[in-house]
Formats: sequence, structure tokens, C-alpha cells
Amino acid sequence: MFPWKSILKFSRESTKPIYLQLADAIIKSIHEGHLFPGQKLPGARVLGDLLNLNRKTVTAALEELSSQGWVESYEWKGTFVSNKLPELKYKPLHNTGFREAVGETGRKVNKFRFLESLYLDYTNVRLIDDGVPDVRLSPLDTLYAYHRSILSKNAFSALLKYNHIEGDLDLRMTLTSYLHTTRGIVTDHQNIFITRGSQMAIYITVTALLKKGDYCITSLPGYQIVDNIINHSGGKVAHVAVDNEGIDVGEVDEICKKKKVRLLYITPHHHYPTTVRLSPKRRIELLQLAIKHNFYILEDDYDYDLHYDNSPLLPLASLNKDGRVIYIGSFSKCLSPSVRVGYFVAPKEIMEAANKLRRIIDRQGDPLLERAVSEFIKSGDLDRHLKKTVRIYKHRRDYFCALLQSNFSEYLSFIQPEGGMSVWLVFKNAEMLKNLPDKLLKQGYLLETDNIFIERFNGVRIGFASLNDVEMDKFIETVKHILD
Ligand SMILES: Cc1ncc(COP(=O)(O)O)c(C=O)c1O
Repeated sequence: MFPWKSILKFSRESTKPIYLQLADAIIKSIHEGHLFPGQKLPGARVLGDLLNLNRKTVTAALEELSSQGWVESYEWKGTFVSNKLPELKYKPLHNTGFREAVGETGRKVNKFRFLESLYLDYTNVRLIDDGVPDVRLSPLDTLYAYHRSILSKNAFSALLKYNHIEGDLDLRMTLTSYLHTTRGIVTDHQNIFITRGSQMAIYITVTALLKKGDYCITSLPGYQIVDNIINHSGGKVAHVAVDNEGIDVGEVDEICKKKKVRLLYITPHHHYPTTVRLSPKRRIELLQLAIKHNFYILEDDYDYDLHYDNSPLLPLASLNKDGRVIYIGSFSKCLSPSVRVGYFVAPKEIMEAANKLRRIIDRQGDPLLERAVSEFIKSGDLDRHLKKTVRIYKHRRDYFCALLQSNFSEYLSFIQPEGGMSVWLVFKNAEMLKNLPDKLLKQGYLLETDNIFIERFNGVRIGFASLNDVEMDKFIETVKHILD
């Protein structure tokens, strides 16, 4: 008797349906030669009895195998391992031609100056990020429950087909009222474009707006990758400095007097990387300058939802009377960076250009995920999650800042951020900071930071939100050991 039970293994604890596990086990047995072409398989009832499975489960497995070409069924005869099997062995791919390019690649993209952390294997290091959520708190099970329930309803089958390039209509409608109630932004779903995160939103809007040689203003220190996007789009970058009121608006005016500026990129809620909030006075001045010099403001509001001490200032986009502000938001920081849903709000002309641009690289986003996010917002789950995490992150900010203050005040200075997920530290001794990433790496910590912050500003941005108290204690102890 063939040892079906010991060969066809499956686990009732697995999340994979049993009929698929059984189909996989039969394929594996064929691969390993336990089952061979032409061999007759027991009927569904017999195999079910042997394996303690319902007959319907076995039938579903055999149907799956039949649809893949592994078995053939004949009325009155039974089911047999197919004589013409799909590919039996995975052959190692040698000399595929994919290893070496014959010539050079075309357009060059500047290297981003982050440490090469993105390419490292994290198994043996603990990442110290520059401000990302604690994904252990992310309500992804609830979000994906919406996803599943959408999938199971026939009414939503249209979502499985090609959809709007600018994103799911339902999410755009939901965002229309969400942006109004939470941020005072008055807009219409026709002016909302859903992207896969704010990174894509920045890329699309910058590329849509720039002509070769156009100037864009960004800050230094700043979110360096935007400079890369500007250069990549044929634009030129002019930098302005940042102080404790935000970007230097006087410098913006000076640059605009000398150069034709098309766009200004800004993170006014909490400046990246310094976490400073753009003062109300400078906000007004900036909007006036945009009209005076005829440029667009790209407002990247990546962490608006995370504010701890007082009510946040409303975004510049809420004062947008002249179509000058393009507003960018994302669910990466309030849910998880793995939820690739972001958006921008822009005038009609930019929407049209963006539509064509996106179509070149991405037919559309992920309509199912976008609809799930929409349901997540409408049900109040997002509000509840934010209330919970803001409380936790506020505690973590206070705890982290207290640790910094009591352990390192002689080495560095910092201002407690009003919100967000990170603290900007400025070291008194440049050498001390320069050596820190390498020394931390030896202790198992990978500091994810832009080198330019260290080299030019003696600064480093460290995220507190993803660390709990115990993890912070350990990290601070390690840093103290190194610095002392
Ligand atoms: C200032 C800023 N903007 C945009 C992004 C991109 O975020 P995402 O594409 O995940 O929304 C980040 C990511 O860390 C960021 O720090």
C-alpha cells in the first residue's frame, strides 16, 4: 500500500487552505519521484479517508491539480498523474545574458546618500531609523479584514479590473471629507490623485511641473531625495537654510529675484530633518512670495497626524486660495510604510499631466487596498488608531528626550519636537558623531541617516517612535558607552 499519509503532509495550523497544501504535497511527490506519470490516484473518498480529510477538500485539490496540468481525470476510470507533466525540474540558469550589460545604462540617477542600509540584511542588526512608526502597533489585521471582505463581495468585482489611473473613486471621495475635517483643506475628489506613497506623489508632481533648467527651492539640510528627483527631471536645485522658525523665507525671496523659480518643496509641519515647525508668520510670507514670484509650493505633510503638545497649525494648503499649493499626504507614517497608499491634491492641469505620467510607469495603483483604506477611514478605525498611537508616541518622545537630556547634555543639543517620530540631535564635537555610526554598527545598531547631515551639520535624526522603553534604554546605554 502506498504510504499516502506519510508522504502527503499538511498542517491544520497553517493559514494556507488545506486543499492547496494537499495539491502542493502531490506536486512535491511527483517532483521527488514518489508518484510517476500515468500512476492512478485513489478516488477522492478513499484518499479523504486515508488522510482524515473531507471528500470535498480532496476533490478541490484534484481540481486544482487538474487545472495546472498535473493530473488527468477520466469518467469511470479515475484520476491519473498526467503523462505530459508541466515542467518537472527547475534547471539552474547559467549564462542567461542577464548578468552583464553590454553597454552602459542611459539616464543616470544620483546615488542617494543614505548609508547603504536598504541593502543590508537586518537579521543581525537593529535598525535605528530616522522616524518610522512602530509597525507592531499597526492595525494591519483590521485593514486587511476590510480587504478580505471587499474581495468576498460580488458588488466589488469591478475593482478587480483595470481602474481609474488617478486612484479609487471611493477613496478620493472619502479623502475629500477627511482632508476637510482633519486639515481644513477644501477640495474635490477630482483634484485628488492617489499614489503608492508620498514618494511617488513627489516624483509625479515634480516631473509634471518642471521643464529643463527650471529652478526648485529645497532646504539644506532637507529631504535629499527630492533634490535627486529635481535633477532627474532636468531641474536645478537652489538651497535655503533652516532656523528655529523653519526655512529662511528671506532667502527664498532673494533667490527668486535672481532666478526663475518654478517650485518650492517644503515640509512645514515638522521640517525634515530638523523637526522644526514653520512659524505662522513665515507661512503667510511664503504664500505671498509664491504669488509675487509665480511659483508652486509642494507641501509634503508626511507626519501631520502626529502632534503631541498643542493643536497643529493647519497646512498651507488650507489657505490655498490661488492654486499655488500642491498638498502631499501618505498613510506610511500613520499606518505602516508597507501600506503603499499616498495622495496629492492639485489643480486640474497638474492632475492631467500626472495622469499621463503615471500611465507610463504604472497603469494604476492597488484598487483593493485603496478601497480598504477608504473603509478603514470611514469606519472611524483610523481615528481610533491615531488616538491610541499619539498617546504612545507622546510617551516615547518624552521618555527618549529625558534619556537624551540626562545622559548626553554635555555632548549634544536638541529641541524636543512638538510632534513627528524623531529628534534632531546636533553634536558639539564633529569627530564624535562621525565615528558613531561605525561604532554603533559594531554593537549591532545600524543608524539610518543621511551622511550629509553628519558631515555638514554635525546632526543626526533619530526615530523614537519604533522603540519601546526597554529598547530605548538599551540603545542609549550603548551610545553612552561609546561616547564616554
Ligand atoms: C519627508 C518625507 N517625505 C516623503 C517620504 C516618503 O514616504 P512614503 O513614500 O512612504 O509615503 C518620507 C519617508 O520617510 C519622508 O521622510
